[in-house]
Amino acid sequence: MKVLVIGANGQIGKQFTSMLQESEQFEPRAMVRKEEQQKALEGGGVETVLADLEGSVDDLAEAMRGCDAVVFTAGSGGSTGPEKTLLIDLDGAVKSVEAAEKAGVDRFLMVSAVQAHNRENWSEKIRHYFAAKHYADRMLMNSSLNYTIVRPGGLLNEEGTGKVQAAENLERASIPREDVARTLVAALTEEKTYRRGFDLISGNDTPEDALKKL
Ligand SMILES: NC(=O)c1ccc[n+]([C@@H]2O[C@H](COP(=O)([O-])OP(=O)(O)OC[C@H]3O[C@@H](n4cnc5c(N)ncnc54)[C@H](OP(=O)(O)O)[C@@H]3O)[C@@H](O)[C@H]2O)c1
Repeated sequence: MKVLVIGANGQIGKQFTSMLQESEQFEPRAMVRKEEQQKALEGGGVETVLADLEGSVDDLAEAMRGCDAVVFTAGSGGSTGPEKTLLIDLDGAVKSVEAAEKAGVDRFLMVSAVQAHNRENWSEKIRHYFAAKHYADRMLMNSSLNYTIVRPGGLLNEEGTGKVQAAENLERASIPREDVARTLVAALTEEKTYRRGFDLISGNDTPEDALKKL
């Protein structure tokens, strides 16, 4: 199964791409926007494609042509202003959904944020970010794609525990990026995650078991 990773140079994206590369079932195609990132990944034997989320839907569709799934784990990050949140986290995500429909790639995993589906639980300081995630997720839910929306809690860079909790609604808590990446791998082919979203935080189950309990 070939998977286009949008945001492959990111902190979750890098770990997720290596996990796919190490697996026997999946093969990554890493989407990055800089040539030096492309060279580094190709040096490690990873297939890459250069594309920018601020580019056209056609370019994004071309980047994913021939893939079986798309995983969106890009983001404008905390150091840019609300304008980039709108252009990347909202419009970039929606363009990726449109591109998947255009390229005929049916499976689409979105990395969203915990409780993005419940306005009353949005973090006060970054309501604009939650609004971007909320409406990108809604556009995905209204698409023809077989989607899964993964809504992790606060991301940590510490080593993963290998144990997570997944459910429709969870209290805000944290989770290592490595555990999010592992859950994304498990979700790719887990039918329990098809056409649904879930919050994801650290817990007591392996990602495979946590997803089966959904
Ligand atoms: N921080 C949290 O606590 C938290 C909580 C829940 C969910 N999330 C979400 O989790 C996801 C992954 O987070 P992360 O920390 O792993 O992200 P990250 O390290 O900030 O990586 C984001 C990636 O997006 C890429 N990107 C940005 N603009 C782009 C563009 N125009 N075209 C193509 N790629 C572009 C960046 O590319 P470059 O490497 O070239 O800059 C980067 O590789 C994000 O969607 C984030 O919103 C975060």
